[in-house]
Amino acid sequence: MRVEVLAASSWAEAVSSELLDRLEPSGLRLCLATGATPLPVYARLPGDALATSTVFLLDEFGDLPPGHRGRCETMLRTALLDRVPAGAFHSPDVDAPDLETECSRYRDLINDGGLDLAVLGLGTNGHLGLNEPGSTADQPTRAVELTEETMEGARNYGADPPPTWGLAIGLAEIIAAREVWLLVTGSGKATVLSRVVNDEITDQVPATLLRTHPNAVIWVDEAAAARL
Ligand code: PGA
Repeated sequence: MRVEVLAASSWAEAVSSELLDRLEPSGLRLCLATGATPLPVYARLPGDALATSTVFLLDEFGDLPPGHRGRCETMLRTALLDRVPAGAFHSPDVDAPDLETECSRYRDLINDGGLDLAVLGLGTNGHLGLNEPGSTADQPTRAVELTEETMEGARNYGADPPPTWGLAIGLAEIIAAREVWLLVTGSGKATVLSRVVNDEITDQVPATLLRTHPNAVIWVDEAAAARL
């Protein structure tokens, strides 16, 4: 796992420009996270950057009505504005009547070609997407219960009361991606990031599992790197 430490002032520009390099000239099968961390990266992408890509939303919260501003799909569409490719954007349907069937559908869609690049954020509890502590590397896309910490975090996205569950692309599909990026910024992530990089590899801190990936990069700003 490569760790790239960048000054906070240049982090978003550098990551966005690296992403653009990957996207040109022919686009990618991408899984994109929401949350606060990637927003400045997405904001810097030119309007047509994703035109030839296929985008898979990393996860979605249950319990929130369609279009709610706390829903991951709403956050991603807002962040990417017109950059979401028409007809090539996929998300898990938390309103489907049969969640098991829906998870199989979404998993099959991802596995039919796999992911070229998974862009992820890091939870303060070490989660990747909604793969909470205790999630294992072989778990596929599925419905998950959220930890208290993740529920509290969802309040920051305007989900109040917060959701108690969600649908998550599984660690199996994430780890099978040809390349994985973990985006980490701010002093609030310094402690968990030092665990991810320096402590034992454990299901209790799912992001440590990325250390087994042959092509994983952590893009981190100096504040989050303070304890490395
Ligand atoms: P954040 O969330 O980018 O809003 O910090 C990351 C996460 O919880 O996965």
